[in-house]
Amino acid sequence: MEKSGTRLREKVAIVTGAGSREGYADGTGLATAVLFAMQGAKVLVVDVDAENAARTVAAIEEVEGETSAFVADVTQSGDCEAMVEAAIERFGHLNILFNNVGISGIGNPGTVLDVEEDGWERMMEINLKSMMLTCKHAIPAMVETGGGSIINVSSIAALRSPNMAPEVAYATSKGAVISLTRNMAVHHGRDGIRVNCIVPGYLYASMVSKISDEYRDLRRRTAPLGTEGTAWDVAWAAVFLASDESRWISGVMLPVDAGLLATTPLTMLPHLR
Ligand SMILES: NC(=O)c1ccc[n+]([C@@H]2O[C@H](COP(=O)([O-])OP(=O)(O)OC[C@H]3O[C@@H](n4cnc5c(N)ncnc54)[C@H](O)[C@@H]3O)[C@@H](O)[C@H]2O)c1
Repeated sequence: MEKSGTRLREKVAIVTGAGSREGYADGTGLATAVLFAMQGAKVLVVDVDAENAARTVAAIEEVEGETSAFVADVTQSGDCEAMVEAAIERFGHLNILFNNVGISGIGNPGTVLDVEEDGWERMMEINLKSMMLTCKHAIPAMVETGGGSIINVSSIAALRSPNMAPEVAYATSKGAVISLTRNMAVHHGRDGIRVNCIVPGYLYASMVSKISDEYRDLRRRTAPLGTEGTAWDVAWAAVFLASDESRWISGVMLPVDAGLLATTPLTMLPHLR
């Protein structure tokens, strides 16, 4: 496969959590990093795990993309600062930040009655604080470049209680990602920085690789399209939001969910029986 387009030509992108976990379905970070590179961007593959990062770098090199790995924990301010410095040092400037890092579970499922404070704080640190920190360090670099595009990954969990097993900490962290997005879009618009977020639905991607076939099929059937989404569906939306094609779009939540957010449980009942 060769580079398939030029929609991001001459742009430099940071993708967080871009690594690829062995034995898991393709993740959003991997898919986005690969598609960005295939559209001509130079991509800094950022991951806390060096082996995961190396797998994505290899996938990008296979499609003849330009890339480099950077090991960082995006919950740490110093790592985020060094990550931005590495992008500038290796590729000259910074245009795009794809804030993908996010986890669920970490031993903290349930309602507010079940939540453990340590788990709650860790969830907020990884899913929310990390995005604030990467932006804090990336925005001055983007201002130097003359503008840029930031894309944060939220979830339908931000807008609906989405799973049969409750997970209030995850949902709350993803809701705050939307507030963060909208505030930053307002505060940095005059610097030519667009800030948007993608709201993925019931994807079959890295995070849910270990669910049962039955639950996987049920997730597919809940949405109007009735087809299964993957990390690549989110990645194509990210290509659009990263490119100049979306130059007049900022502060939006873009659902990538097969139409799920347009429905109610009753509407979909015939497809779930
Ligand atoms: N899979 C779904 O159904 C679904 C639905 C809605 C939203 N999302 C969101 O999509 C995003 C991507 O999820 P995914 O399952 O595709 O994961 P992914 O495979 O894209 O990312 C996992 C990678 O992130 C890295 N990582 C974890 N913590 C890190 C840290 N602190 N610093 C740097 N790297 C770190 C891991 O090492 C791993 O390589 C998440 O924000 C998730 O909440 C997923």
